[in-house]
Amino acid sequence: MILQGANIVLGVTGGIACYKAVDLCSKLVQAGAGVDVIMTEAATHFVTPLPFQTLTKRPVALDMFQLLRDVDMAHISLSQKADALVIAPATANTIAKLAFGLADNLLTSTVLATTAPLVIAPAMDADMWANPITQQNTETLRQRGACIVGPGQGRLASGRVGAGRLVDTEEILAAIRQTLGRNGPLAGRRVAITAGGTQEPIDPVRHITNRSSGRMGYALAEAARDAGARVTLISAPTCLPAIYGTEMVSVRTAAEMHEAVMALRQQTDILIMAAAVADYRPAAMAEQKIKKGDGGMTLQLERTVDILNAVAQARTDGMPGLVVGFAAETENLLTNARDKLARKKLDLMVANDVSATDSGFGVDTNRVILLTPDGEAHTLPLMTKFQVAEQVVNRVAAIWRERYE
Ligand code: CTP
Repeated sequence: MILQGANIVLGVTGGIACYKAVDLCSKLVQAGAGVDVIMTEAATHFVTPLPFQTLTKRPVALDMFQLLRDVDMAHISLSQKADALVIAPATANTIAKLAFGLADNLLTSTVLATTAPLVIAPAMDADMWANPITQQNTETLRQRGACIVGPGQGRLASGRVGAGRLVDTEEILAAIRQTLGRNGPLAGRRVAITAGGTQEPIDPVRHITNRSSGRMGYALAEAARDAGARVTLISAPTCLPAIYGTEMVSVRTAAEMHEAVMALRQQTDILIMAAAVADYRPAAMAEQKIKKGDGGMTLQLERTVDILNAVAQARTDGMPGLVVGFAAETENLLTNARDKLARKKLDLMVANDVSATDSGFGVDTNRVILLTPDGEAHTLPLMTKFQVAEQVVNRVAAIWRERYE
């Protein structure tokens, strides 16, 4: 995980959302990041340094004059040490100071002195956010390369409803991860990932689907984003929240997924087909809900398009540069997976034994084997789907480097 071992400087400025910065700080530490907190004077009126100090096990930097006591030039050492500088919550006042390059406290001085990427999570009342000055200042920072995450819509401290809420911790974490990964092994690569189980309608209220939760594909989208890729997630219906920093194309049926993949094919460097695509669909969809009768019922099915085969046929123009498939098997895992690798002309096959209770559909863990056309088989131990995704992404990046760089 990209946050493991990263040095994050967390700037906390004075707003009611300060208490949420404690949660962010906690999650960063849990993810293995080293966190140094800088609080502005105003922030200390909303929350004390104590929770941050307790969580990070490091002193909280409060003001410029502290450096007289610490000898160490705090704003210089923190600015050099940071892999990313995160300001959450960021008030309109601090955003304005940053846009104009002011350095009147330890936080703004550190930002001015750093070359580390900036992640800014604004939080303020709706009118302050909507003010053209704030909008312009935020835009200035964005154009200078800062990642602006939020603000979100919702109920504000004033009781009004509008834009100005600090976004959820998970979203800020995702923005930090994406920012840290900007120059990662897939930087500049366009990656399309399919996810979920397609739904093939029988009538307006029924469909045929499978047990895929979409988790593997969504984990791949996160891992590819964290590796610097521009990710498009082509998703069949799932219960999962959208992945921050990726583009989402929602589809339902195998035919829609086929169309979406083909439409993107020439703008895609790497295609990862993690979706469980239906192989058959009802030959005709009833226009009205089918009423039950006394006897049994036979449903006529027809084949859907094999998307990977269609991609393989069109790929004579070299796009996508790499294609990865998944094989979900309940028996003869290696033989079946190797056969599909060859038949679908893949560069990497992720073979997955879905008969095990701790692997495959509906669980958070997976046990997979990575197969390449040269006959190599790399067995990974049981790990979370995110860890599997990171391994697949690293492998894909290595194959890309070998072949195209
Ligand atoms: N796949 C596809 N189009 C389909 C079915 C599957 O592109 N209509 C892709 C999947 O996304 C996966 C790979 O093919 O990456 C293997 O899918 P799987 O269903 O396991 O293989 P099939 O070739 O359909 O073989 P079988 O159903 O006989 O196991």
